[in-house]
Amino acid sequence: MVFKNSIDLYKKAVELVPGGVNSPVRAFKSVNREAPIFVKKGQGAKIWDEDNNEYIDYICSWGPLILGHNHPKVIEEVKKIIENGSSYGLPTKYEVDLAELIVEIVPSVEKVRLTTSGTEATMSAVRLARAYTQRNKILKFEGCYHGHSDALLVKSGSGLLTEGYQDSNGITDGVLKDTLTLPFGDIEKVKEVLKSKDVACVIVEPIPANMGVIETHKRFLQELRKITEETGTILIFDEVISGFRLALGGAQEFFGITPDLTTLGKIIGGGYPVGAFGGKKEIMDLVAPVGRVYHAGTLSGNPIASKAGFATISYLKKNPNIYKELEEKTNYLIDNIEILAKKYSINVCVNSMGSLFTIFFIDIDKVENLKDSLKSNTKNFSIYFNTMLENGIVVPPSQFEAHFLSMAHTKKELNRTLEVIEMAFKKIGEKSGK
Ligand SMILES: Cc1ncc(COP(=O)(O)O)c(C=O)c1O
Repeated sequence: MVFKNSIDLYKKAVELVPGGVNSPVRAFKSVNREAPIFVKKGQGAKIWDEDNNEYIDYICSWGPLILGHNHPKVIEEVKKIIENGSSYGLPTKYEVDLAELIVEIVPSVEKVRLTTSGTEATMSAVRLARAYTQRNKILKFEGCYHGHSDALLVKSGSGLLTEGYQDSNGITDGVLKDTLTLPFGDIEKVKEVLKSKDVACVIVEPIPANMGVIETHKRFLQELRKITEETGTILIFDEVISGFRLALGGAQEFFGITPDLTTLGKIIGGGYPVGAFGGKKEIMDLVAPVGRVYHAGTLSGNPIASKAGFATISYLKKNPNIYKELEEKTNYLIDNIEILAKKYSINVCVNSMGSLFTIFFIDIDKVENLKDSLKSNTKNFSIYFNTMLENGIVVPPSQFEAHFLSMAHTKKELNRTLEVIEMAFKKIGEKSGK
C-alpha cells in the first residue's frame, strides 16, 4: 500500500498545526507510524484516503456514525435544508424537533440544552450540578474521559492515556483540588467520599470506553444511584458515547437506572458537531436565561447538525432491531477473535458492550478498570494496528479506545476483518516466539 499523499499532507500539517492534527489520537503516534492517513471520503462501512486506499472502518468518527458513512436518509434530510443557510444565531425548528425526540427517548431527560460538542455538554452539566447543590467538589473515575474542560482532565482517558499521561498541564491547583478521582467500580470508596456530603456530582461513563471498553457491572451503577440519592449528590451519566448506541435510550435504558443529568453528543449530531445536556426540569431550569447558570454558543443547536441528528435518531427509532443486529455482529467478531487468539497462543482479553469492543493484549481474564487496562502490551497492539491498516482495515490507533461497529458493516466485511486479524495474531505470536 502506498501512503505518499497522506505523508506529504502530514509533513505540511505539522508545520501549521501542533502535531499536524486537530485531536491528538489522530496523529497515530502511539502506533509508531510515520504519518496518519488523511481521509478523502466515506461510504457505508468504508473510508478512502488521499492515496485512494480503501479501508473497512472501525472508528466510525469515534461513534456518531452508527448508521455508517453517508447514510442516504441522513443525507436526504440534510440536503433539504443545506441550501437555505448554515446558521442564524436565532432559534430554528430543527433544534426543537431534536430536543423533542431526545426528551421522548432518553429516560432521565425532561429538558435538554444543545451544545456544539460533548466537552461543552459535560462542562456545563458539572457547572449546573455545582449551582444546584451549592457544593464545589466533583467526583470522576480514573480512565473515564469527559472531554477537555479543566475540571474533567484529571486522571483522564482517551488521548491522554494514548500519549502516556493522565493529567493535562495548564490546570490550576484550585481546580485540581476540587476534582476527586476513584477507581471505576470501587463503590466502597465512593461511599466513603460521599459521606461528607460536600460533593456536587458524580460523573461517570456508564460504559467506560476511553480506557478501552470496560464491561460495567449493573450493581455498581445501582449502588452509585443509591448513594448519590442518599447524599444529595447529582449523578451525571456521560452518555456521549453510549447514548443511542447501547440501546435507543442509552445505558440508562439498558440498565434501567435514571441519573439526574445526562450528557450526550456524537450520534445526536449524525456526524455533525453537536452535544447536549439534559435532565430533571427542576435542575435544567437553573440554566440561563431562566436561571443564572450560564451556557451559550454561537453554533449551539446548529440547524444542519440538528437535522442530521434528528434523521439518525428517527431512523434508529423506526428500526429497533438495529441494536440486536449490532450486538450479534460484535459477538461474531469477538467469538472468532478469541478462537484466533487461542490458535496463535496470544494473550488477549476482549471486552465488549453492545456494538463497542476493545481487544486488550493482556494476560488477565477481565479488564475491570484503569489499573488493569494499563497492563496491556501496547507493542502487540501496535503490531495489530499496523497489520490491520496495511491490509485495508482501520481500527482505533490506540489500545485505550473502542472499536465502533455500524449498521453498514456486512458479514463479508466482518469475515475480511477476521482474516486480517489472523494475520496480525500470527505476527504477534511469531514475535513473542510462540
Ligand atoms: C464519554 C465522552 N464524553 C465526552 C466526550 C467529549 O466529546 P467531544 O469530543 O464532542 O468534545 C467524549 C469524546 O470522545 C467522550 O467519549
